[in-house]
Amino acid sequence: HDKVIVGGNVVYYNIDESFAETDKMPQIHIILKEGATLKTGDQLTLVESAGRSALNGGQWQFEIRYPQAYTWEVEETTDAEGKYTLKVRVVSEDYSGQGEAGYEDDDEDNGNEDIPQLDIEAEMAYNTPLRTYAEKNNKFVGTCVPVWNINVDDDNDAKTKLIAEQFNMVVCENEMKFDATEPSQGEFDYYHGDRLVNFANRHGMRVRGHALVWHSQVPGWLTSDGNKNSFNRSREELLAIMKNHIENVVGHWKGKVAEWDVCNEVLSDDQSAVRTDPNAYTLRPSVWQSIGEDFLDSAFVWAHRADPDAVLILNDYGVEFQGQAKAEAFYNLAKYLKEKGVPIDGVGLQCHLDVGNVDINKLKATIDRFNAIGLRCVITELDLGMDDNEANRMQQAKDYYNIARIAMEADNCNELMIWGLTDAMTWRGGRNPLLYDSDLTPKPAYYGLHQGLRETSSAPTAISPLPYGKPSATHVVAETYYNLQGQRITSSAADSIYITSQLMSDGSVRNKKVINR
Ligand code: XIL
Repeated sequence: HDKVIVGGNVVYYNIDESFAETDKMPQIHIILKEGATLKTGDQLTLVESAGRSALNGGQWQFEIRYPQAYTWEVEETTDAEGKYTLKVRVVSEDYSGQGEAGYEDDDEDNGNEDIPQLDIEAEMAYNTPLRTYAEKNNKFVGTCVPVWNINVDDDNDAKTKLIAEQFNMVVCENEMKFDATEPSQGEFDYYHGDRLVNFANRHGMRVRGHALVWHSQVPGWLTSDGNKNSFNRSREELLAIMKNHIENVVGHWKGKVAEWDVCNEVLSDDQSAVRTDPNAYTLRPSVWQSIGEDFLDSAFVWAHRADPDAVLILNDYGVEFQGQAKAEAFYNLAKYLKEKGVPIDGVGLQCHLDVGNVDINKLKATIDRFNAIGLRCVITELDLGMDDNEANRMQQAKDYYNIARIAMEADNCNELMIWGLTDAMTWRGGRNPLLYDSDLTPKPAYYGLHQGLRETSSAPTAISPLPYGKPSATHVVAETYYNLQGQRITSSAADSIYITSQLMSDGSVRNKKVINR
């Protein structure tokens, strides 16, 4: 008779392999050897342990599956010291049907829900820009811009023009990072960042700031490799550096950069701790982490003080699909920060993914669980790597389509950013992850995204699900200009009369006629 004897507690953690809470119980299957006979009164001890508890507080019990023989009775006892025993006993030699075949098996998602279809041919008939659909929905679709490589000062430059036409949000690919903005200690360089901000203003685009506190792309005076405190600075010195950087950079772009990635990629890739501790997360060792875990709190608080209207984000990769250990750790960390009052507004899912590996249901589960704790989700750096062939191009289009649908349907997800413009300009060289070919021809991926945005766009309503800025101060988050014929124009024309349409932080829209002399 096999039995399990446990020296400590038997502890049950009622989550499934994707970390979703479940009412499934741990099972014990009793299997009799062929020819074995038992008689009334025979008793099997299945489990003995020092105690029994639940990791996350829920009620539970073993579910026993009997053989198709005899009639059984179960006896479960916990004595005064908490010692736990689980026994079963044969009460009759007649078969009661207890072990009838057909124990309910795991109820699987049948996956039969109507999956909307992508139709690229049909989509090509629309020449409405992406941003039009996002704007209808009070949402944003954007791209990162390599400001060193695209002349954003020249509205006639083909790439500049394409970005202004298609997107209503931008982020610097590199130019607002620590090494770019504070190349020497205490000396700040805002040149390229300002160029992008000016470009965005001319075209009614929202600007993201990326990134304040990150282990990568940090200047040599701060750390030799980002991973360690190579100059052995004290906690106080490092905090002072961080504070000064945040105050200056966020302060400089106060009111101009609507949203910041305050902390980027702070989690370690190894998050196995969440398998045994439901609230665990493990931070990546870095020059910042050497301050102590509260570097996170300080970063958010200083960013918030420098621009109380800015939306503050915790950004990371490998956290997109519920069920990944790192996704779990990311949720734990964001929830923990939010619960203790750190001014965090939401999380960024980078979404550097590969074609065919996009699990749309798990992405939705991730976005929804952040919504449930009052955090917004931003798709911050979407790109979908693939080898370039016809079949992959179609799958890539599907993946873009599905991500756009899922993200833009969610009330707490207002922004979807693509990490780059053309396959010739991606950081993932050779992986062809973006929307345009190098000659600026839209790929199927573009039409996939287009259909996703189109199908989820709707006329603006008076009720906006989540204000874009902080609820306290209503301010302009995006501005679009039209001539008196209703065609979109840039605002720069002097001596003109035009209409400005301002999207306010509370979701309302303000239209004004402006006489610009
Ligand atoms: C990348 C840029 O695209 C490259 O040009 C640069 O050389 C390295 O950084 N996660 C991030 C981004 O948060 O800042 C990274 O951008 C891509 C991964």
